[in-house]
Amino acid sequence: MGVPHSKKILVTGHRGMVGSAVCRHLADTDNEVLTATRDALDLTKPNATEAYFDTNRPEIVIFASAKVGGILANDTYPVEFLTENLTMAVNTIGAAYRHGVKRFLFLGSTCIYPRDCPQPITEASLLSGPLEPTNEAYALAKIAGLKLCQYYRRQHRVTYHSVMPTNLYGPGDNYHPEHSHVLPALIRRFHHAKQTGQPSVQLWGTGQPRREFLHVDDLADAILHLLSLESPPDWVNVGTGVDLTIRELAAIVADTVGYTGEIHTDPSRPDGTPVKCTDVTLLRECGWKHRINLQQGLENTYAAFCRELDAGKLRSA
Ligand SMILES: NC(=O)c1ccc[n+]([C@@H]2O[C@H](COP(=O)([O-])OP(=O)(O)OC[C@H]3O[C@@H](n4cnc5c(N)ncnc54)[C@H](OP(=O)(O)O)[C@@H]3O)[C@@H](O)[C@H]2O)c1
Repeated sequence: MGVPHSKKILVTGHRGMVGSAVCRHLADTDNEVLTATRDALDLTKPNATEAYFDTNRPEIVIFASAKVGGILANDTYPVEFLTENLTMAVNTIGAAYRHGVKRFLFLGSTCIYPRDCPQPITEASLLSGPLEPTNEAYALAKIAGLKLCQYYRRQHRVTYHSVMPTNLYGPGDNYHPEHSHVLPALIRRFHHAKQTGQPSVQLWGTGQPRREFLHVDDLADAILHLLSLESPPDWVNVGTGVDLTIRELAAIVADTVGYTGEIHTDPSRPDGTPVKCTDVTLLRECGWKHRINLQQGLENTYAAFCRELDAGKLRSA
């Protein structure tokens, strides 16, 4: 099986950061891409989901829909995070199977590995220890979806499999002032500091924690590559395997944005986990390696940030 062609491919969550990147990549192929907004198809509704598959008959599904949110939202609404994500996964995976879909790719995340698992994180760490309490509900739903794919594969011999992406960045990211991830938060803050002539920017914590980042276009490329494999792993990390300190990241972001002021740290603020990086051995064995280095990826992301800001379409919800 090569990269899918002449297939009907349903991409759920196509307006999200991951789904839109996958759609950009599929636009260069001869596949027919099916999408539906949440208003047209709410995947938490079993009857609507079943009817959609009945009418549209996709042959491949890339499941990039999810209820996502920051620590505060996850901690405040665990009922919604567990219920909506679990229901969406069960409805969509089940409907796909009942309508003859032989290939299903489920989006997991490295944030569903146990909180204190050994670094770099290998696929074997899944379910090996307690989860991070602040996103436990989300992680439980995602783990159930990933396992359901594995069980369908084992029991019904369909190729349902998952990817575990590391921290992503790129066009379509969320720039919420309080709830965004570290990289979009730094872009927003350095851009604002440049615009307003601030002499310095202060980072939370010591700046010493090490993190890994993957451009979302690389993830989309990895997804299409994994879909081309006849027998992909049940789940595989998708990352670069390269990490850097938050201080180093801040310096690259400042340079990309053109901010020339000083960068200070604030050690009185919490740092979080000292190191978080994926082991990409299995991914390499699958024949894939990232192409976009952080510098190039940041230039592309900052250009998208400026375009989205100018057009009044910057995502910050
Ligand atoms: N972003 C990251 O850094 C990252 C890292 C690792 C893994 N991932 C995984 O990648 C997946 C996608 O993440 P993302 O960052 O692309 O999220 P996102 O930008 O928030 O997109 C999520 C999409 O899901 C759709 N959706 C939510 N609830 C729905 C429902 N009930 N019915 C139909 N569609 C629904 C949303 O539709 P609307 O547009 O209508 O709201 C949105 O298009 C998630 O599983 C996430 O865990 C993301």
